[in-house]
Amino acid sequence: MNLSTDHAAWLKGGTAECHKLDVYPERAYRMILLGAPGTGKGTQAQLLCERFGCCHLSTGDVFRAAKCVDPQNVSPVMQRALGYMQRGELVPDEIVIDLVGERLTCLKCDYGFLFDGFPRTVAQAECLDQMFAKVGIVLDAVVSYELPTQEVIDRLSGRRTCRGCGATYHVKNKPSLREGACDACGGELYQRVDDKAETIRVRLQEYEKTAGPLRDHYRCKNLLVCVSAADAPPRVFEQTLEALQPLLT
Ligand code: AP5
Repeated sequence: MNLSTDHAAWLKGGTAECHKLDVYPERAYRMILLGAPGTGKGTQAQLLCERFGCCHLSTGDVFRAAKCVDPQNVSPVMQRALGYMQRGELVPDEIVIDLVGERLTCLKCDYGFLFDGFPRTVAQAECLDQMFAKVGIVLDAVVSYELPTQEVIDRLSGRRTCRGCGATYHVKNKPSLREGACDACGGELYQRVDDKAETIRVRLQEYEKTAGPLRDHYRCKNLLVCVSAADAPPRVFEQTLEALQPLLT
């Protein structure tokens, strides 16, 4: 089922509206993906959204989309956020929470959603709980992907991302057919600034600080399932569906 919208409301915020299809999923699935940078959240998000018809909402994508805007039109707050991101540090909670708070329509959307990269701290998770209560929706499940650190580093340092459509490749595991060009849209493939070795180390340290308490937050609500991200993407996807089954019925 590919019901994907153009995500304009999420990526641009404000009064932007998504271009929607007239087809809706049987119900709105609402889920969150957790996991260290490079575990494959974005890769699995794409597969899960195709299966469940929900929208892929990545906070990292909002920051990266802002980078493409004319610098004169990037707000001072967003410029600050981009500085943290380029160093591999977490963007401060208040900035991220405001950003999601300005996009409450995405939480209420009939397509449902799959959060990727949000929340990343317990403070963000608690604010998200309040937002859910405010708009009267209930979360279905939270998936946490687990992967040894060395594998994470290999995946991130080999990742290439399309400037056009955001599709991801890997120089060894998933090369594009034509070097430097996206198979899907022909766009230029580039290496994210935060995928350099020294920045990857910072990102992993940041993740380690917040991951345990965040998992506990959702474990206490009986919403958490943990899935190994070590196998190839189709197998990880199968394992994710198996783990989700009891929570989605
Ligand atoms: P964000 O954009 O969320 O990035 P991230 O969490 O670091 O995750 P990544 O996108 O790097 O990795 P992924 O798990 O999606 O892996 P992927 O599928 O691409 O955040 C970026 C920054 O924004 C943060 O550092 C922070 O500064 C800021 N930020 C964002 N949200 C924030 C928040 N809520 N609070 C504070 N700050 C925030 O896969 C990686 C590679 O591996 C690819 O090349 C892929 O092809 C390959 N691969 C994937 N799966 C497999 C597999 N199973 N086997 C082999 N290779 C695989």
